[in-house]
Amino acid sequence: MNDYGYFDDAAREYVITDPFPPAPWINYLSNGHLCTIISQKGGGMTFLDSSVEQRFTRYHQDRGVPQDRPGHYLYLREQDGTIWSPTFDPTRTPLDEWECRHGMGYTTFCASYRGVTARLRFFVPPDDNVLLWELALENHRQGRADLLVTPYVEFGFLQAMREVRYWHWCRYHNTFTYDPKLSAIRYYYGTPEALKNMSVFLSGSGTPAGFDCSRDAFLGRGGREDAPESLLAGKLTGSELPGGGHGCGALGYRVRMKPGQRKRLCFALGGAETWQQAGRLIRKYRKEESVDRAFGRLGRAWNRYLDVTRVEVPDPAMQSFVNIWNPYNCRAALERARWISAVHTGMGGGLTSRDSMQDAQSIAHLHPAWARDRIRVVLGYQCPDGRFWRSFDPVTGSAPEAEDIRSDNGVWSILTTHAYLAETGDFDFLKVSVAYYGGKPASVFDHLYHALTYIYEHVGKNGLPLLYDMDWNDSLYLFAEEGAESVMLAQQLVYACGLLGEIAEKHGKPKVMRWCERVRKELTATLNSGRVWDGQWYRRLLYSGRRTPLGSARRREGKLFLNTQAWAVIAQVASQQRGETCMDRVHEHLATPYGLQLLWPAYTGIPEPEDPLVSNRPGVGENAGIFNHAFAWGIMAEALLGRGDRAFQYYRNALPNVLSEKVGSERYLNEPYAWSSHIIGPPDERAGQALLSWLSGTTTWMYVAATQYILGIRPTLDGLLINPGIPAEWATFTVRRRYRGTLYIITVRNPDHVNRGVQRVFVNGVEQASNLLSGTDRRRVRVEVILGKDSQLCTAL
Ligand code: GLC
Repeated sequence: MNDYGYFDDAAREYVITDPFPPAPWINYLSNGHLCTIISQKGGGMTFLDSSVEQRFTRYHQDRGVPQDRPGHYLYLREQDGTIWSPTFDPTRTPLDEWECRHGMGYTTFCASYRGVTARLRFFVPPDDNVLLWELALENHRQGRADLLVTPYVEFGFLQAMREVRYWHWCRYHNTFTYDPKLSAIRYYYGTPEALKNMSVFLSGSGTPAGFDCSRDAFLGRGGREDAPESLLAGKLTGSELPGGGHGCGALGYRVRMKPGQRKRLCFALGGAETWQQAGRLIRKYRKEESVDRAFGRLGRAWNRYLDVTRVEVPDPAMQSFVNIWNPYNCRAALERARWISAVHTGMGGGLTSRDSMQDAQSIAHLHPAWARDRIRVVLGYQCPDGRFWRSFDPVTGSAPEAEDIRSDNGVWSILTTHAYLAETGDFDFLKVSVAYYGGKPASVFDHLYHALTYIYEHVGKNGLPLLYDMDWNDSLYLFAEEGAESVMLAQQLVYACGLLGEIAEKHGKPKVMRWCERVRKELTATLNSGRVWDGQWYRRLLYSGRRTPLGSARRREGKLFLNTQAWAVIAQVASQQRGETCMDRVHEHLATPYGLQLLWPAYTGIPEPEDPLVSNRPGVGENAGIFNHAFAWGIMAEALLGRGDRAFQYYRNALPNVLSEKVGSERYLNEPYAWSSHIIGPPDERAGQALLSWLSGTTTWMYVAATQYILGIRPTLDGLLINPGIPAEWATFTVRRRYRGTLYIITVRNPDHVNRGVQRVFVNGVEQASNLLSGTDRRRVRVEVILGKDSQLCTAL
C-alpha cells in the first residue's frame, strides 16, 4: 500500500487509486504484435509490431507539457454539457469514485459520476490485432441518464521518425474517412516509405450518431482535449480528411438509460493490411460474444503462462513478484526489448543480441517456444566469423547498424539455449539449421560453439578475452584501449564453456566437450593468478601496458567492481573462501540502503587519463548506480555461497514493491509493480529514485535469481535440481512447478533453520538418492525436501 495504490494479488491486479502518481504508471496490452501502452489515466499509444514504423496513435510521454498525453480516451457528455472521462484524463472532471486496475494483459477503469457508473476495460486479444474497449454503464440515478458516449484517439503518422522530421508535408499522404457500411473510421497510410500499407480503424458496436475524422474539427479552434468544442455543442461534426491532415477517431453514440438500467458498448482500434481484413475484425468485434470470448482466451493464456511456477513462501512481497509481476514483466521485456514505455521513446526498434538473449532466458522457462524463436532469430545475426551484430530489426528487415564492438555478445546465446534445453529436453533443436548473417547455414550447435571459439581466439597478452570497445558494461568504452582484456568476459566464458560442455555431451560431440573443459581450466587458473586476483577481490580490466588494472585497490576511483566478484562465484572460478572474501568486500563497499552499487568509489569525472570523464554523475547508471541487472548477479552469488540470509535480504530490499515503499513513491517515482533498470545511489542527492522501468535485463535475472538460486528450483539438462539458498528463519516453502509435462508439487522443509543443504528428498513418499529429479511418466508428483545441517546429498551448484 502506498499513497497511490495497492496490490490485489488475488485478482492479479495493481490498483491505482489516485490518477496522479509521481510518474505515468503503465501497463502493456499486447499479443506480441499489436501493443498498447496505457497509463493510469488512459495516456499511451497503440502500434503494430514496431513503435517506430507502425505507430497508430500519438503519445507525448515525458516530452513537453502536459505529460502522458494523448491516449485512449472516452468522453461521456451529459445533457447539461458536462463532460467526464472514466480514465480521468483528458477532462479531469472531478469524479465521485475512480480507480484504475492494471491486470494481466488488460487495464480497467472504474468511475462514477453523479450516480452513473462506468467500467471501461481495455485489452488486446491473443490472436487478433485490435485493442478492444469494453464499456459497461449503469444508471443509479433517480432519473434518466442521457449520454453522448465518445471514444477518441488522435492518430499519428505511422512512421514516428518521419513524423517528427517531416510532418509538415507527409500529413498530406494520409486519408481519414468514415465508412458508413462498417460504421467505422478508416485511416489509410500508404506513403511509398511505409513498411506496409496500413488501414487503421476505430469502430464500435452499433451505429454512431456522429463521427469525426479530423482532430481539429473535433477539438475545435481552441484545440482543447479536455473540452472538445464538438462535444460542448453536443454533436460531432462529421468531418473527414480525404486529402490528409491531422486525423483522429471519434465516434459519438447516444445512450439513454432508465434508472437502474445497464448498457454495454464495445469499441475496437486496430489495423490490417487491407480494408477487407480490417472489415472482418470490425464485424467480429461488434458482437459482444466475440469480445467475451476474446477476454476468456486472454485469461487462459495468462493462466497457462503464470502457472509454470507458483510459489508459497513466507514473504508476501516475494510471492507477489515471483508469481505475478516478475513473469509478467519478463514478457514485456522480451517483446519490447529496450524501446517503448512511458519513458523509453519508442523511436528505435528491433533487438540487440545480448539484451534479447538475456530477455529470452527467463522466457525459456515460462514459454519455451517464444525463447526458441528468439534464439533462432538472434543466431541469424551471427556473422560468419563468429561475432554477432549488436542491433538489428527483424520487423523491418533493415541491415544491422555497424557500430562499436561489444565483446560479450556471443556468450548470452549459450546461456539461453542451455536454459531452453534444460526446460524442454528438446535436443533436436541443436540440429536446426540457421544461416549466418550473409553466410552459409549451420546448426544451432555449431553457432554456439563458434560464438565461444571467437571469444577464446581473441585474447590479449594476459590470456583473457579482449574487451574491444566494451563488454556487458557499456560505459567501459571509457576505459578501453588497444589490448585491454575483460575479466568479466573471461569469467562468463568459463561459465558458458561449462554449459556448452554439458550440451556437447548430450549432443555427442566429445571434441567440443574437451575443448570446453580445457578452456575452463586454463582460464580459471589465469583468473586466480596474481594478475587478476587483487588480494581481496577480482579486478575488472587488465591492460597490455603498464596501466594499473581497473578494479584494483591501487586505483583512486573504480577500485572494486561488483560484476567480477559475482561472476567469479557464478562461474565457479572462485573457491568458496575467495568467493566469500570478495563478496564480503562487496558488502562492505557497495551495499547501500537501495541495493548494491556497481562499483566503488564512483568516478568524479575529471577529464584526465586516470579519471576519464563519465557522462553519469556519481551514483547514476554505470557510474556506481544500483544497476539492478547486475545486482541480481550479486544475489545469485550470495545464494550460491550458501549465504541465503544475505541473498534474501538483498533480493527483498530490491523488490520494487518493497523499495518503493521504503523510500516512498515520491522519491522512487516508478511503478511499484515492475522492475526498474537501476536506482540512483549515493552520493547523488536523488538516491532511491528508480530509472527506466519495465525494459531491462533486470527482469530476467531477478526472476532467475529468485526461482533458481534463492528457491533453488533449477532445470538442468538432466532434470530438476533442487538446491535452495534461503534465509535460515524460513521453516518451509512450496513450489508448484510444471516441468516437461509433469507438475511437481515441491515442499521444502527447513527444521534445522539452515541457509543451504539438502538432506533428504522424497518423491511420492519414496526416498531418493539425489536432489536431482530426473524424468518421470507421471503427470503429477509430490516432492518433499528436507534441508539440514548434515546434508548428505550432492548439492551440485
Ligand atoms: C543497459 C543496456 C545493456 C548493458 C547495460 C550495462 O541495460 O541495455 O545492454 O549491458 O546497460 O551497460
